[in-house]
Amino acid sequence: MDLIIKFSKSIPKTCEALAAFTSEKKKLPDAVGVLDKELKGFISEALKTVPSYSGKPRDMFSCVLPKNSLATHLVLQGALDAKEVTTLEIEKAGARFWKALLALKSSEIALVPDHKSPLSEAIIAAHLAHGVKLCSYSFEKYRPAAADAEKTPGKVTLTIVTPAATEAKKLYEALSAVESGVVLARNLVNEAPNVLYPESYAALIKAELEPLGVKVDVLDEKKMDKLGMGAILAVGMGSARPPRMVIMRWNGSGKKDEKPLGFVGKGVTFDTGGISLKPGAGMDAMKMDMGGSAAVVGLMKAVAVQKLKRDVVGIVGLAENMPSDRAYRPGDMVKSYQGKYIEVLNTDAEGRLVLVDCLSYLQEKFDPALIVDLATLTGAIMVALAYEYTGVFANDDKLWKALEAAGTATGEKVWRMPLDEAYRKDVESDIGAVRNLAKNDRLGGACTAAAFLEHFIDEKRIWAHMDIAGTAFLKTDHPLGPKGATGVGVRLLDALVKSYGA
Ligand code: BES
Ligand code: MN
Ligand code: ZN
Repeated sequence: MDLIIKFSKSIPKTCEALAAFTSEKKKLPDAVGVLDKELKGFISEALKTVPSYSGKPRDMFSCVLPKNSLATHLVLQGALDAKEVTTLEIEKAGARFWKALLALKSSEIALVPDHKSPLSEAIIAAHLAHGVKLCSYSFEKYRPAAADAEKTPGKVTLTIVTPAATEAKKLYEALSAVESGVVLARNLVNEAPNVLYPESYAALIKAELEPLGVKVDVLDEKKMDKLGMGAILAVGMGSARPPRMVIMRWNGSGKKDEKPLGFVGKGVTFDTGGISLKPGAGMDAMKMDMGGSAAVVGLMKAVAVQKLKRDVVGIVGLAENMPSDRAYRPGDMVKSYQGKYIEVLNTDAEGRLVLVDCLSYLQEKFDPALIVDLATLTGAIMVALAYEYTGVFANDDKLWKALEAAGTATGEKVWRMPLDEAYRKDVESDIGAVRNLAKNDRLGGACTAAAFLEHFIDEKRIWAHMDIAGTAFLKTDHPLGPKGATGVGVRLLDALVKSYGA
């Protein structure tokens, strides 16, 4: 389904469904009030006689309009209290409208925002559109066309009716760039692992980002071998599909000497666990084990489309974790790119191996101003935070504060987790530098995984690790999208980059 967003000062004549907010006491906005008068009070009468509609914030009401009205359907929603209005709440309200409208199968929709709000009319209109668009996402690549036609018309036009149409359109341009990054990330995570594997993934990144002016370099297994990237190579060894590392550079400052913001993503295109094989039930979900990399790729797209004025480097480590006669084993000693030997004790703790070679390469080659890595790293973070919060391990209070603010603004909630000497000790190896399974085994598994990464972060580097294992892929719909891939990280990191002066 194609959803086209427009902004206009008046309700289009062609509109089939009309959506609007009612204020406290079910009062209709002016544009709908006029219609109500034309219909001799049909709408206000209906509102009075339907006891289930309270008019309270978020309450929904819909009805069919009489013949020859401006529209065939009307959908109303109780406006938010002025004091709870934020761009995020507006987006969620837009999403609620979309869910109600979807059922009506209209192809022309007009949405009239509530104008009594502390935010400007343009901001409200743009973020309503943003919420609708994010919520309207669906992964349709493999579904028979007939099934889609049953759900929605092929093309839907949604017009937001606002006196600030010109300004809203301009604001929405930046938001729609962010949407393109979120959609890309969601599509990547939802994609099947027989279609998206390291080589095809790297080619896709090139095709997506190079036309936007992002420099994309791909390291294949030969180049990584020459460079001594033993950790990511070990993880990829068991697969017939060799690993890749992809380096994406956006030179938004136009300068040569600006320190970039650095982002790293885990891109395990499928995680069977390797020789330490995972149980079969639910293993299909492990196609989402590249969610961190998808967030980084989506962010690079959002940054490039908006032409943000900061230098940004994204690095993703792509590998498939498979059991085979060539696979790495528990007991293996693996030499990382940085030089430290890693004692492999469980081949299912593979994400940290992929990440550390990316992190070392980023620090050595790009001397970044800060580093944020994202990874579906541990089941343990889900034991702690379930699907609600991304766990964040940060070695710098200012970076943590910036991530927290970005998380609150975008609804991609984050919770700070501890970095500690004790966890670092727990992953030290008796025969090498570090071990990929903590001595405490799975206790505090998210913390010991972060501590493992910390062993590869140079002193004085500003760094945060985000464990998105619980938030990258959901079993149920959420306020701004359907079940499946969420694209978590794209909106948050876009806000973070902007907060660092882009
Ligand atoms: N990709 C998994 C983590 C994961 C689990 C992501 C569930 C999303 C949902 C990771 O590679 C893994 O297998 N981690 C192990 C580590 C353990 C062997 C120390 C885990 O969490 O069980
Ligand atoms: Mn694993
Ligand atoms: Zn994994």
